[in-house]
Amino acid sequence: MKNRKTGIAGLIAATSLAAGAATAADVEVLHWWTSGGEAAALNVLKQDLESQGIGWLDMPVAGGGGEQAMTVLRARVTAGNAPTAVQMLGFDILDWAKQGALADLNEIAAQEGWDAVVPGALQAFAKHDGKWISAPVNVHSTNWVWANKAVLDANGIAVPQTWEEFMAAVNALAAAGVTPIAHGGQAWQEATVFDAVVMSTGGPDLYKAAFIDLDEEALGSDAMQEAFDRMAFIRANVDENFSGRDWNLATAMVINGEAGFQMMGDWAKGEFLNAGKMPGTDFLCFRFPGTQDQVTFNADQFAMFDQGGTVSKEQAALASAILSPSFQSAFNVVKGSVPARTDVSDADFDDCGKQGMKDLAAAASSGNLFGSMAHGHASPASVRNAIYDVVTAHFNGEFDSATAVQELVDAVSIAK
Ligand code: GAL
Repeated sequence: MKNRKTGIAGLIAATSLAAGAATAADVEVLHWWTSGGEAAALNVLKQDLESQGIGWLDMPVAGGGGEQAMTVLRARVTAGNAPTAVQMLGFDILDWAKQGALADLNEIAAQEGWDAVVPGALQAFAKHDGKWISAPVNVHSTNWVWANKAVLDANGIAVPQTWEEFMAAVNALAAAGVTPIAHGGQAWQEATVFDAVVMSTGGPDLYKAAFIDLDEEALGSDAMQEAFDRMAFIRANVDENFSGRDWNLATAMVINGEAGFQMMGDWAKGEFLNAGKMPGTDFLCFRFPGTQDQVTFNADQFAMFDQGGTVSKEQAALASAILSPSFQSAFNVVKGSVPARTDVSDADFDDCGKQGMKDLAAAASSGNLFGSMAHGHASPASVRNAIYDVVTAHFNGEFDSATAVQELVDAVSIAK
């Protein structure tokens, strides 16, 4: 939890100062895309806007998952100095919309026909009171595993299909002296793993009842206790330096062959690509064992803050650029995510991206598409943070699994 609080004051000071430099023809964009792969993807957007004569005032706030960015955002808005556009996830977007802070994008949305091409699961977070209030950039999902192919081959390990096969693979790597799992010990990363572990352990019924309906019985169930036991198995198979590590450094361990697996959303693919690695040759992507039919998604969106009246020309240009089919392809190919429109060809995507697009469409039509708890698409931030605290405390050995389940029930009931 230390990571969630350090350095915020400094960040706020830095971003407030830089904000003073914005001019009318700039968009000032607050985001947390600071890793190599993320920055490469962001460049696609910057260049797109620059080609239209719109300057980009960059407001990066490091910290995967965006908690620090959201803290900076609150301070900026309180100071009466909201950025033009802000990367945002799920319930956070709706919270700002309810406060009347976001600009109405209906005009551009109608002109460009967003209603017909943006999936309903995303519209649920991009619209409020019948108004479009943010522009969806992508669809990520959290139930992926990334593996170093040479490490798996050297140890005779095939892609595990079930939790039991995954445990066997992990045990084989441990026996061979290889770090089985690359993990970054930060609350949001533990929660990201927990998304997939809960889905795999209890299936979509448990996932939905616990994380979306916040049902006490599900949160306190034996299946939830089993999910915590599985988290303990994962904890037992990370290296000793995991604490506080950034997610992209964990990805680098898999890239470099220092570890076998990382459980992480598909932004991890951006790191492999940025390092010049090829899916199927250098690395493997597969759904977390036991979640092959499900997708736990998070969609990055850019919410436009109301600058006092109508949407500015620059905000409309940014929203339009984000939703254009060519940008959706070019950006998501680099980012590791899949398009936020249903009408974009998969031709330019690699095999992991093609699978991601296919999985998303299949999950949406079979009722197996669920918002990611870890990334703010299952419940509001207060509940999400309560779950983070319990999951991370258990991961760090503060609670056994039986206690964690009880703590989870209590924490969610207080937070909701
Ligand atoms: C997620 C976000 C992704 C990725 C990740 C790590 O919340 O949706 O785009 O950037 O954090 O920073």
